[in-house]
Amino acid sequence: MQEAEITIGGISVRDLAEQYGTPLYAYDAERIRENFRRLTRALRGNYPEVSVFYAIKACNNLEIAKLLVDEGSGVDAASPNEIRLAQALGLSGERIIYTGNSLSDEDLAAGLRAGVNFNVDDHGILKRLFSIGKPRCMSFRINPSGEDIATPDLKPFAGPSAKFGIHPRHVEEAYRTALENGVERLGVHMMPHSQAHKPENFAHVTGKLLDLIGPVARKLGFDLAFVDIGGGLGIPYRREQPPLDVEAVARGIAAMVRKKCAEHGLKEPRLVMEPGRYFVGDAGYVLGRVISIKQGYKTIIGTDISMNTMARPVMYGAYHEVRINGRGGQTAPMAMTGQVCENTDMWIPEREFPADVAEGDVVVLMDAGAYGHVMSYDYNGRLRPAEVLIDGGKSRLIRRRDTFEDMVSRMCLSDDIKERLR
Ligand code: LLP
Repeated sequence: MQEAEITIGGISVRDLAEQYGTPLYAYDAERIRENFRRLTRALRGNYPEVSVFYAIKACNNLEIAKLLVDEGSGVDAASPNEIRLAQALGLSGERIIYTGNSLSDEDLAAGLRAGVNFNVDDHGILKRLFSIGKPRCMSFRINPSGEDIATPDLKPFAGPSAKFGIHPRHVEEAYRTALENGVERLGVHMMPHSQAHKPENFAHVTGKLLDLIGPVARKLGFDLAFVDIGGGLGIPYRREQPPLDVEAVARGIAAMVRKKCAEHGLKEPRLVMEPGRYFVGDAGYVLGRVISIKQGYKTIIGTDISMNTMARPVMYGAYHEVRINGRGGQTAPMAMTGQVCENTDMWIPEREFPADVAEGDVVVLMDAGAYGHVMSYDYNGRLRPAEVLIDGGKSRLIRRRDTFEDMVSRMCLSDDIKERLR
């Protein structure tokens, strides 16, 4: 049975594949804006003071991040280079949150120079930080949970087996040190999960966080400038999964913040969220081609989407819907693989695919906007794909495909090799 053409922002994937080649990342600009507006509407409808930051690690193309910054988003940066990305978007100071891990002296100095909101994940680095300089605004990433908080595909982000955040027993010491060093504005942060699906989880961990920080703030006598509950909003990678009810998430968090602030005698702080996946995940697609259909121990659809084009399936066992453009109806069990010489590259070991799939068909890997292109690499000489943005019915290249010259350009080579490369 012929199925309708798959389109992205009104343009058929067949046209995109022809015009730009494959593998290709394609993003729907309007979907990104809608995702941002849906969440901010829900948060602002339930709580008066809200700030939203885009976790730029999810997709770092500046043209993508710009869509969100134009909507009013700040940026959550994980490294000095991500701070520079945020600055290139015209952001500065507290419109950038800097949440790093195992930060070196150079990393700390870079954040201080940029005047960002420092979100510190380890009280042990405070001595080094304050010997280099003093942030005006700071928060601590707290690991609030006694239990591991994992979500279906991912390792825990909080709890005893997570590497993140400050242990509850060090929270008071951390804030005391910050106050003694004259930090003016103090917030509190957590990032307990990613790809979370139950609205009640967000309120639950917010309550745990405020129960931890409340008594500390009272004892040390400071007001919380903000409570940042991280990102983590899940998206339905499986078609049968319902979308997350962000209105319920926002309502739950707002009610919990009010309740806990009243209980602990705190002034109600600004509410901050820093999602990545929720904004860009379902707005991105990987387009590939069926190159071969191999009949062997099983039927293997060979495509030019390899494990290094999109790492999530082999890295986390993550599920992505995969559609074959224009095909539908009867299905048969098949595997799908890329072009890399290792078996891990069979990134779908078995799934039902349209039985009439044929060489040259366009393959569309759905929900690839978050942690897709940023996690691609050039293993086997299969180079990083191009990216296109579709907006207002038009497509444009926002990153060109890597070339062989890119691949060798950072090698420091002897003259004879350089000569041959010329
Ligand atoms: N804030 C901080 C401090 C984070 O570490 C992260 C993600 C976010 C915000 C955004 O989380 P999100 O809203 O996207 O869940 N590579 C994995 C996900 C790793 C998330 C890392 N931190 C994946 O492909 O699913």
